[in-house]
Amino acid sequence: MELTDTILVTGGAGFIGSNFVLDWFPHEDGKIVTLDKLTYAGNLSNLDSLAGDARHTFVPGDICDADLVRDLLEKHRPRAIVHFAAESHVDRSINDPGEFIRTNVQGTFNLLERARRYWEELEERHRQQFRFVQISTDEVYGSLRPEEPAFCESTPYSPNSPYAASKAAADHLVRAYHHTYRLPVLTTNCSNNYGPYQFPEKLIPLMLLNALEGKPLPIYGDGMNIRDWLYVQDHCAAIRCVLKKGSPGETYNIGGRSELTNLQVVTTICDILDEICPDPSLGCRRSQMTFVRDRPGHDRRYAIDARKIHNDLGWSPQTPFEQGIRQTILWYLGHRHWVSDIRTGAYQEWLQLNYRGR
Ligand code: NAD
Ligand code: DAU
Repeated sequence: MELTDTILVTGGAGFIGSNFVLDWFPHEDGKIVTLDKLTYAGNLSNLDSLAGDARHTFVPGDICDADLVRDLLEKHRPRAIVHFAAESHVDRSINDPGEFIRTNVQGTFNLLERARRYWEELEERHRQQFRFVQISTDEVYGSLRPEEPAFCESTPYSPNSPYAASKAAADHLVRAYHHTYRLPVLTTNCSNNYGPYQFPEKLIPLMLLNALEGKPLPIYGDGMNIRDWLYVQDHCAAIRCVLKKGSPGETYNIGGRSELTNLQVVTTICDILDEICPDPSLGCRRSQMTFVRDRPGHDRRYAIDARKIHNDLGWSPQTPFEQGIRQTILWYLGHRHWVSDIRTGAYQEWLQLNYRGR
């Protein structure tokens, strides 16, 4: 059976997935079919600019639905699957882990199994061409002490949160499908992303919107936890690079060379907002910072050693944090409707659940 120039993107209405879909067309040929369940984190309006564009098809649905995935593969005959769909928020996984196991583990298993059956029916030359890209996270490696070297591809998995454990389980299934069946998989383990379209439950959009509106800025613990921040469009470029040039069976770590404490991130946001959006009634926005009860099991530090993807595939991050964070703040300032549309009752309920009594 023949392959087309289509790729199937799961989770393409979420934060990174929608950036990936939007960035695809200026850089690559071929069509995209987006499969997304539109959970609280998925937002079809992220893809509004592609409405009526014949290169893009949106399919609402669940990656756990075996018949739907089989039908999509048979109908569109994609040359690759890029798998973003997941429950992605650590705090939610602590409050209610069940959906993380269903989507991240069972959903990935279903995709792999459907992909395997589809792939096994292809002619040999098409089997060589096909790719399954698993979008994973640096959180599977656990937490680093200050003096430890950054995570590399051979760092043992040691996931600490239910979210990280569910992603680790999915990564192991992906690895096993290569080892056992030779399915041409690639796995990317990326650090913290930030940029347009990020749901404001995550640190950067939550803090920037609260800072803008004069609300408390809830910093977990002592604020000295470190993350390695990567601008989302740099991540999308890395994934395109892995899809094009990566070797099946390999994993690639992706990071921003930008280790910052949460306090550094939040003070930077406050200072930029004070500069570009001064509000005399609020004064200095740093005064809104509030230390609150820590996240249970809070990983202290993540850092990525991205030498492999740089040396083997030629990718490196292009956007310094100072530039990316300004672009991100300006994007949120320019998209107030997007923000108000997603801060629905369900979002308010989450804020109550996660922050009340902290
Ligand atoms: P997100 O939560 O913003 O988006 C997830 C998307 O998946 C949403 O559109 C949602 O509707 C969809 N989805 C959820 N369950 C589904 C299901 N059962 N079937 C179909 N669609 C479903 O997540 P994100 O931050 O964009 O992350 C995307 C991927 O990248 C995830 O796999 C995540 O683990 C990984 N990742 C994220 C980061 C980060 O900093 N955000 C870093 C590294 C890796
Ligand atoms: O490292 C990659 C991971 O980055 C991805 O796999 C996850 O999908 C993504 O959500 C992100 O996980 P984090 O837990 O690092 O991101 P979050 O934005 O939730 O938190 C970043 C840091 O900020 C973390 O140390 C917790 C802290 N924090 C977060 C929130 C929401 C606060 O101090 N206060 C907050 O209100």
